[in-house]
This record gives sequence, C-alpha cells and structure tokens, in this order.
Amino acid sequence: MSISPVELMREIYETRTVSDASGVSLPLESEMRLPLAEALYRVVSDHTPNLALEVGMAHGMSTLAILGGLHAGNAGGMLISVDPHQSTAYRDVGRTNVRLCGMSAQHRVVEQLDYLALPSLLQELSSIDFAYVDGWHTFDYVLLDFFYVDKMLRPGGIVGFNDCGYPAVHKALAFLKTHRKYAEIDVGLKPDYNASNVLKATVRRVLRRNNNDRYFRKLEDWEPTWNFYSYF
Ligand SMILES: C[S@@+](CC[C@H](N)C(=O)[O-])C[C@H]1O[C@@H](n2cnc3c(N)ncnc32)[C@H](O)[C@@H]1O
Repeated sequence: MSISPVELMREIYETRTVSDASGVSLPLESEMRLPLAEALYRVVSDHTPNLALEVGMAHGMSTLAILGGLHAGNAGGMLISVDPHQSTAYRDVGRTNVRLCGMSAQHRVVEQLDYLALPSLLQELSSIDFAYVDGWHTFDYVLLDFFYVDKMLRPGGIVGFNDCGYPAVHKALAFLKTHRKYAEIDVGLKPDYNASNVLKATVRRVLRRNNNDRYFRKLEDWEPTWNFYSYF
C-alpha cells in the first residue's frame, strides 16, 4: 500500500530530503513553510474541490498538500500543476512524490511558463474550484497568474497565495481587493509581521503586509467597466 500524500509531505519536511525519479537523494528546496503546507492541506480538505490548479510546483510540497486534501476528502478530484522546470531544474521530484503516494491519475503537470500555460488552460477548462499561486514572485507574474485564475475560478471558489509578505505579492493582492469581488477567509494562520529589524516589522504591521499565506473566496464573476481605475 502506498503512503498518503500528507504522510509523505510530513516525512519530507522532517528529513529535508527528496528523491528524484531514479532514486537519487537530494536536499529539499524552494518549498513553502510547513505550517503553510498544513494550512493548504486543511483548506483543500475542508472545501474538496473537483478541479484544483497550482502555479509553481518545485519539489511538490504544495502539490502533496493539495493532493492530501483531495485524498482526505475522499471525493476524487484532480490537480493541475503548472511549472516550466519540473523535469529539468527539479528533476521530476514533484512527479515522483505524487507517484509514491499513488495519485498520478489525479494529477497532471503542465510543464510550461505560466503565461503560455494559463491561456491554454482557460480555453480548455470550463471552470476550476481552487487555485494556489506560488510561481515567479514579481508583481507582473503574480498579477498575470491571478488574472487567469480569476477567469477560471467559479464563484464560491478559493484562491491562495504564497509569500504574501513580498511587496510585489502584496501589491497584486491590493489589485484583487480593489478590482475584483473577493473576500479574505480565515484559514487558521495568525498574521505574521516579523521582519529583520524593528523598523521593517513596524512598516509591515502598518501596511498589514502579512508574511503568511492568504486565501480569498470569489464572491461573483465581476469585472469593472472598461475605464475603471482604483488606486491600489
Ligand atoms: C517557490 S517554488 C514553488 C514551491 C512549491 N509550491 C512548494 O511548496 O513546494 C516556485 C516555483 O515556480 C516555478 N516558476 C518559476 N517561474 C515560473 C513561471 N513563469 N511560470 C510557472 N512557474 C514558474 C519554479 O520552477 C518553481 O518551481
């Protein structure tokens, strides 16, 4: 019997070691923090999406958390992971992890840059129920990821973001809040305003630039009129 995705995820965080497709051990890298992976797992378990999408897979900690949530919900479901570097820089470690927990049939990797993959997925899919954004973290890329996620996400669906403490991600979230209809949801993560010094932490707190992952529920399919602009 294969290991469950969440057991494998926790084991990897403990050992900080992963294996590639040929069994070679490598140090875990580029991963989201464990409490954030646990929160992702809880959100997906609670909402049991039929179709989930993630941007940014790396060694697949978010992938295991999402598949773990689908597994716990026991309701089938499918995850699509967009990452241009899975078989190259990440040596298929994420794919190997999915195979180890016997969930390859519920998982598909689109090995392309987000700006090529997401327009094709928008044409292909009728809608998605859940998305997690953890790819390239500059403002333009996060905004682009959100733009396409918003087009695919059904009303009531949820989108989560990693590295929200980065000014670029925070700015993209300010766009989400001013130019679309979403409500932030509490996933049990206390806001974290820690920084390398007191001044930075104060700025962070004042700007509410929370380091933890943040999740938003889509309230409705809505876009402003063609000439709308709100400062964000
Ligand atoms: C921080 S890592 C993702 C970590 C992963 N979510 C986890 O928790 O294990 C960021 C990932 O984004 C991918 N990436 C970089 N540029 C990208 C792009 N333009 N489109 C999609 N993915 C991209 C990288 O290959 C890398 O795997």
